[in-house]
Amino acid sequence: SRSKTTIFVIFGGTGDLNSRKLAPALYNLFLDNWLPENFSIIGTGRTKYTEDDYRNTLLKDINEFSRSGEADPAKWQEFANHLHYQVSDLNKIETYQEFGQRIKTHQEDWQTTATVIFYLAVSPNFFEVIAQNIAACKLAEDADNTRIVIEKPFGKDLDSATALNKLLGGLFEEKQIYRIDHYLGKETVQNILAFRFANSLFEPTWNRNYIEYVQISVTERLGVEDRGDYYEGSGALRDMVQNHILQLLCLIAMEPPVTFVGEEVRNRKVDVLRAMRPFSSEDVRKNAARGQYGEGWIEGKQVPAYRNETKVDPQSNTETFAAIKFFVDNWRWQNVPFYVRTGKRMHEAASVITIQFKDVPHLIFPGEATDNWQQNRLIISIQPEMSIRLQVQAKRPGLDMVLNTVDMVFDYKSAYTSYTPEAYETLLLDTIVGDQTLFMRGDQVEAAWSLIMPILSAWESKKSVNFPNYSSDSWGPEIAEALIARDGFHWVTLP
Ligand code: BG6
Repeated sequence: SRSKTTIFVIFGGTGDLNSRKLAPALYNLFLDNWLPENFSIIGTGRTKYTEDDYRNTLLKDINEFSRSGEADPAKWQEFANHLHYQVSDLNKIETYQEFGQRIKTHQEDWQTTATVIFYLAVSPNFFEVIAQNIAACKLAEDADNTRIVIEKPFGKDLDSATALNKLLGGLFEEKQIYRIDHYLGKETVQNILAFRFANSLFEPTWNRNYIEYVQISVTERLGVEDRGDYYEGSGALRDMVQNHILQLLCLIAMEPPVTFVGEEVRNRKVDVLRAMRPFSSEDVRKNAARGQYGEGWIEGKQVPAYRNETKVDPQSNTETFAAIKFFVDNWRWQNVPFYVRTGKRMHEAASVITIQFKDVPHLIFPGEATDNWQQNRLIISIQPEMSIRLQVQAKRPGLDMVLNTVDMVFDYKSAYTSYTPEAYETLLLDTIVGDQTLFMRGDQVEAAWSLIMPILSAWESKKSVNFPNYSSDSWGPEIAEALIARDGFHWVTLP
């Protein structure tokens, strides 16, 4: 289905995000006929590229990063005709006047009002100046047809996020503001709502009466690579927990929305954040653990400790791992722990949500039968494996009654032959059609920051930290094991 005539203005058009994600996503949307007949992508940056240089760089990026592999020359040519480049100085009003002129020219050529999307794929230092200049040049006056997409990080704490919301709110309407959390665009993440609310089987058990605990584990093999600059001011709590992990938690914990419409879904999610139990300083000590990786071996290569990465302070206390126990204080979830953890340079890259069900009320089998007894478990695997498995007990074939755990598996690879779009394809298409369901509303971002502020402040105020406390290629620091072992549980890894 083709959508309405669209113009993208991509700030950070020569940046890493555009190379790896945005350009390949737009190209694949084009290949799959999701883009309108008339569209234009205007990349912008400081580099003095000609239009041809720019097209050639993007072709290289697409060949390297696109899920559809090397670009077909004829298709590429067709796509490239829609690509433009403008050298820009973001601090100069002329830059924006020039955008205005280009937008006007396009619309005159096409003889229609286009949807105009300003995509801010730049460092947050530029958010303000860009937003203000867009408004000053009246490029976003038409609230129905102009949109601003804001990449992460949205603020670095509650105050800065609130200030940014205030600034944007003064210049644009909320319906124009698309705050990205790319996890929400992932196929398997979108499926959480389908799975919960299109089946009658799970919802009746989806509460404190049947669920013992929930676990959300997002572990990565990668280190900080060349992002030391950014990461030093961030850390795992800001980089992963405040946004991606809390969003996953909301999808698991939210009440059923009345309809699958942007505001309905977003209201139910913000309800979860508002119900989450605030942290006292005692809670921070007990229920939050942080870590930083030391050196080690990954894929046969020796990798440096975080403190020895480029652009990282050799005494850095920035955490590359966080594990936290949350509670959601409402009727559905009272006293059900939500254990979350995330870390870089871990033993395995896997994003996995585990719902652990409670024990059966009474066990009728003899002791010998239940040596390998395990309560039911639902494991939602987001990446790289894409599957949902329900672990149940079954009788092992044989003459004696012995129970063991077996998996009922829904696996994308065997269930579907169709391709899986990348998160950014979904999200970019949503900006074109004007669907905000998978984007963060202003109040959501602030609620998430409020929740983690006590942890952030406590961690930042303690100056000497015993880092590194886990080695690369491990499962994180011991204190994270202790955090969950204290309750009699352990971190779940995929079978
Ligand atoms: C980003 C973080 O938001 O998400 C990165 O800034 C992290 O540090 C990345 O590596 C993980 O995303 P994905 O899609 O690879 O799981």
